[in-house]
Amino acid sequence: MAYHAMTMAHIQLEHWDEQQLKESLSHRVKGGFGAFWVAGSRPTEPPPVQPIALTGGIPDPDTLPTEQLIECSNTVLRREGPAALRYGGHQGHPGLREWLAEETRRREGLDVQADNFTITNGISGALINVSETFLNEGEVGLVELPTFPGGSGAIQNCLCDIVGVTVDEEGLVPEALEETIEQQESEGRNVKLLYTVPNFQNPTGTTLTVERRERVVEICHAHNVVIAEDDAYGDVRFEGEKPPSLFAIARGKGVVFMGSFSKTMATGLRIGWTLSEQQVTDSLLQTRFDLGASPWVQRTILEFASNGMFEKHLDKVNEVYRKKRDVMLSALEERCSRYAKWTRPEGGYFLWLTLAEGVDPEKLAKAAYNLGVAYVGGYAFHIDGTGQNTVRLAYSFANEDEIPEAIMRLGRALEEASQA
Ligand SMILES: Cc1ncc(COP(=O)(O)O)c(C=O)c1O
Repeated sequence: MAYHAMTMAHIQLEHWDEQQLKESLSHRVKGGFGAFWVAGSRPTEPPPVQPIALTGGIPDPDTLPTEQLIECSNTVLRREGPAALRYGGHQGHPGLREWLAEETRRREGLDVQADNFTITNGISGALINVSETFLNEGEVGLVELPTFPGGSGAIQNCLCDIVGVTVDEEGLVPEALEETIEQQESEGRNVKLLYTVPNFQNPTGTTLTVERRERVVEICHAHNVVIAEDDAYGDVRFEGEKPPSLFAIARGKGVVFMGSFSKTMATGLRIGWTLSEQQVTDSLLQTRFDLGASPWVQRTILEFASNGMFEKHLDKVNEVYRKKRDVMLSALEERCSRYAKWTRPEGGYFLWLTLAEGVDPEKLAKAAYNLGVAYVGGYAFHIDGTGQNTVRLAYSFANEDEIPEAIMRLGRALEEASQA
């Protein structure tokens, strides 16, 4: 304290002014593509009605495996405390990587080893790592239109241009992909990376068909475009068969697969992974400077998974989300069918609404705010500023009992927004 006071008294600080700070900021910040995005304007007044949130891609709070994680964490700290509490290396805990490799061999029949995996700070950490590994300033990254803003943000953060490729009800459109790449190439631009979410896409909830997966891999191979495959929601499946990953179809060539425990267990774990060919894995590790993801949490997850708790947990949470999806779908049918159409996902967290022509999106936002239902306007997922007539609804977080009320409020808001 004494030192602090003395410093304050003797050094001159006035040179560091606001202008200087502005000049010091990197092109990333000056470019205005910050990592955080605000969906809609921030109200300054408290809302007239407590809103029911259909906004974030957040797990149901009642599904969080808190008690089991307390037990697993205790076991880990008692058994291997010092190792769990010091740096664990960039590639991540070998035991967790081995478990992931075994799961991938069992589920996808792929010949992958623990060394093909890296453990990351969620898929978000993987996205930064993959972007920094493949992208140079001025090159082009392709994203879906609409897409998860964390993916487009990671690409833009490498001072790259992003170009959108259309998604329809069967996922990314291969013809649009090919056309976009060819158009960019004809302008002399170097298209390096495609970021895609093939299962229960955020925000649309759509899943890429197997035929399209094959075409996407072929097109990207033909044009030397690396695929960053985000499978954040792939295990949140309530019905149907999981299609092969792009990584499996490409036999690992030119694809980095990214997975996460966020949507199946808890977003606060901050543990995800990459799966790639050995040479790519080595390159990913070359651009990691974060000293690795938490060894404590990685070991705790491994303890959870190797005691068979992960599979059981997955069955339980998928049943919760299936019910919520069904409740939301039937409420929409009852309350909103005159004003919008929507997707029917076989898994994941989201439904995607396309508003009927007569619905004014701005009036809808105001009415929804006043009536107490919160959603994310679809424009927040469109890098080209379009998507005004779309809405993302998350059924994952809200209470099952609240969903019919939320959709009733949305139906009333839609009605108000349709009146001339
Ligand atoms: C498609 C998609 N990928 C990645 C993430 C972030 O995942 P993580 O928590 O593993 O960083 C999200 C979170 O909403 C997401 O929707």
